[in-house]
Amino acid sequence: MRLDSITDAIGDTPLVRVDPAVHGLRHIDLYAKLEMLNPFGSVKDRAAWHMVRPGLTAAADGHRTVVELSSGNTAKALSLLAGLYGVPFKTVTNRIRVPEMRDLLLLLGAEVEELPGQTECLDPTSTDDPLTLFHQELTGSADGYVYTDQYYNARNTEAHAAGTGPEIVADLDGRAPDHFVACVGTAGSSSGVARVLREHDPGVHVLGLVAHKADFIPGIRTIDEVQGVGLFDPATYDTIETVTADEAIEGMVTLARRCGMPAGPTGGAAYTGAVRHLRTLDAELTERRTAVFIVCDRIESYLSYVRQRRPDLLGRPAHRNSLATLTEAEAAAATGIGTEDAERWIAQDEPLVVDLRSPFSYAALHIDGSVNIVDELFAELLQGGLPFSKSRPVLLACPVGEQSARYAALLTRMGHPDVRSLAGGIIAWRDAGAPLVRE
Ligand SMILES: Cc1ncc(COP(=O)(O)O)c(C=O)c1O
Repeated sequence: MRLDSITDAIGDTPLVRVDPAVHGLRHIDLYAKLEMLNPFGSVKDRAAWHMVRPGLTAAADGHRTVVELSSGNTAKALSLLAGLYGVPFKTVTNRIRVPEMRDLLLLLGAEVEELPGQTECLDPTSTDDPLTLFHQELTGSADGYVYTDQYYNARNTEAHAAGTGPEIVADLDGRAPDHFVACVGTAGSSSGVARVLREHDPGVHVLGLVAHKADFIPGIRTIDEVQGVGLFDPATYDTIETVTADEAIEGMVTLARRCGMPAGPTGGAAYTGAVRHLRTLDAELTERRTAVFIVCDRIESYLSYVRQRRPDLLGRPAHRNSLATLTEAEAAAATGIGTEDAERWIAQDEPLVVDLRSPFSYAALHIDGSVNIVDELFAELLQGGLPFSKSRPVLLACPVGEQSARYAALLTRMGHPDVRSLAGGIIAWRDAGAPLVRE
């Protein structure tokens, strides 16, 4: 194969059958669409190229910067594409929770601006999410920028309607699969592919997968975040199911160790979600069926993600004191304290106030006298046992009070006699007009 440009290598990814001895389905042929084999490493190569292409030459002539809101694969693909044209690329994102990705983007020459929002994805339903405000600014006037706008740009979906979908049909000898399974981030890939498959066969069943709400799977939304955003249209999916981070990692392990497919967490989530969904149908089938799931990207960028959640897979002792080991009953029994009571408590008993948010959020506004231990670091600290003296009470604070409540429950289980979680988090504290200071 000889190509004039690396962009000619985008697309035409293989459809590979998963060995039935691995997935155990007796009547369903399960195929993986290996989007991880795109040249920049993910399904987003197609969308990034299709979205940025019309603006790149003008950007090069007019000294404009390509800009996107992405903490992962779209930013990676756009960095490389912008670099091809000698154009700068900037990504603006809420905290990047996969450290390898931040380093990689910097190495690729991207400018990375991290904002203090909570979610990985754009959340237009939140009026004070800084990422959303930035998005609104860019949508109003993108002077000096080529804004690819992956959450709203129809070209994101079109890339998959023109490429990924037709390739699947061609590789199945002109037929659509009976089932199509994809994780949902911007919804571009699932919507584009689903549209084309249904044109071939309106009966195709589309399963969209999102992360369980207490979990984080890099690249996709949680069930709470998925509604009403950008390209997402509920009508695209016959069924939407959730996958936990543990299931995503289990799927990664199976694909890597048994199938020769070194997939990232969303590939693992798609495999686990597909097999779980299809298993029930398989038991009643008498005819053969076909199912396709998307393997979005590769395993290598997610070592710290795995280390944090499943250290045993990397030859390290399993975490004893992790949120994953918390029972629902323990989590529900955490002691919360509202803003007014917390203010009084701080004045009287001087608890140690620990702010679990990102350093950016903390620097912008925090409770006077609080210390900042970002949640990931806090999780690691707890592996060594209780990191504070039992003689001083502790108040934990996070953005909305959910994570701090879980950590409060964990510290209680670890033997701390008086740990409380700031109910409603720093947002409720701020909304109540309680004092906050800037770094
Ligand atoms: C690793 C990974 N998996 C899945 C997706 C979801 O793809 P889409 O945005 O097309 O819904 C993304 C999107 O960024 C991703 O980065």
